[in-house]
Amino acid sequence: MAEPQVLSPVSCVPVITIDGPGGAGKGTISRLLARRLGYAWLESGALYRALALAASRQRVALDDVVGLSDLAGWLDVRFTTDVHDRAHILLAGQEVTDTLRAEACGDAASRLAAIPAVRTALLSRQRGFRRPPGLVAEGRDMGSVVFPDARLKIFLTASLKERARRRYKQLLDQGIGANLNDLLNELAGRDERDAARSVAPLRPSEDAVIIDSTGLGIDEVLARVLRLADDV
Ligand code: C5P
Repeated sequence: MAEPQVLSPVSCVPVITIDGPGGAGKGTISRLLARRLGYAWLESGALYRALALAASRQRVALDDVVGLSDLAGWLDVRFTTDVHDRAHILLAGQEVTDTLRAEACGDAASRLAAIPAVRTALLSRQRGFRRPPGLVAEGRDMGSVVFPDARLKIFLTASLKERARRRYKQLLDQGIGANLNDLLNELAGRDERDAARSVAPLRPSEDAVIIDSTGLGIDEVLARVLRLADDV
């Protein structure tokens, strides 16, 4: 007879995953959702971006598999929130929130994210964000690899043009200069690389609910996600 499965307390903590391509609105929606539910929030892309920044600062090349996986193992990155509920990311104690948003950082992140040993080194760190009363985790493989037992899995997407426009506006709002055409090409290149890699490729898991947010406002998407969260 099969042994009864004993669930550890952490696996009882509910997780909602939001995966999808860059610029689809995952960051905004997952942060708002986490706030509404009182859950913790994991922006997994920031971990890959922070690793890319640390690698560039320490002159570890993007094809140095051993150097990058070592760095991923002891990466000193911390996520904090200020009194206005704004997220801040610290690398080795230094604020890097805006630096991480630059498309060059996203591009480097997507290159090192294709290395299996790097992904393995970041796995337990990501799972460590799961704590009561729950977690909203956003990225590319949250539902498929990191939290396969998530209570609700969403794949949030939008047309390439709309995603480039949103990224453009987001960067300008943060005072970071950008060119719409360059952004469109960079996002397209990153999507292609993320979808084509052999480990954790960007694609909806079979049990994910797909939401196309093209033409939808933040409030409409959030309302849809909240309804789905209520139903599970
Ligand atoms: O989501 P964001 O644009 O910050 O992610 C930057 C890059 O990090 C992505 O293009 C992707 O290659 C990688 N990434 C990943 N898996 C995740 C989150 C991000 O491979 N869970």
